[in-house]
Amino acid sequence: MSSRPLFLYALCGSQRQASASRRLLEALRLACPEGITIEICDLIAGLPIFSPDDEGERTPPVVAKFAGKIGEADGLIVSSPEYAHGIPGGFKNALDWLVSRDEVPFKPLMFAHASHRGDLVLEQLADVLQTMSLRIVSDAFLRLPIAGKGDEAQAAILSQARESGLLQTSLSRFAEAICTEA
Ligand SMILES: Cc1cc2nc3c(=O)[nH]c(=O)nc-3n(C[C@H](O)[C@H](O)[C@H](O)COP(=O)(O)O)c2cc1C
Repeated sequence: MSSRPLFLYALCGSQRQASASRRLLEALRLACPEGITIEICDLIAGLPIFSPDDEGERTPPVVAKFAGKIGEADGLIVSSPEYAHGIPGGFKNALDWLVSRDEVPFKPLMFAHASHRGDLVLEQLADVLQTMSLRIVSDAFLRLPIAGKGDEAQAAILSQARESGLLQTSLSRFAEAICTEA
């Protein structure tokens, strides 16, 4: 249980229909301890390609909506696959829209990783997000290797993680870090 209501905004680096990263975020959403709400962002695939020419007064409405949600959130959860040893292009594009804006500095962030691989994307994301002045809460890091498994196996692992309290533990650690630093 969180000491105050928290709104967490979850960003998925994969736009794939059956994304394991998204399934992990969905499992976290369903496992939320009392007082925590998670919304999974569905705007990333619809963001135009970033250009500094389109910032300020020329900011596209969908970007303003995306940034608005980030601004409202008490914390962000990021779950992303690794593509060619790096950050998926569409996801990096979404992050680029936020670089020069006011919403992200000092925003707490936790990683939820759905693969036993992909350490390079975790390292690169940490570097990029720290450069953008987000605050990564490493204590809350959750790794649940469901990527590459069938639907039933994924569902079984996620359900076991929920029953054992693994998902809630990460969220509670994240909530505690948000509330103590606020
Ligand atoms: C274009 C592409 C490139 C990939 N490159 C890597 C890679 O460099 N390293 C890796 O560990 N996995 C790589 N993968 C595998 C994905 O990280 C893995 O399939 C992951 O589960 C996909 O996440 P999702 O289920 O959330 O879409 C790649 C997959 C795709 C589609």
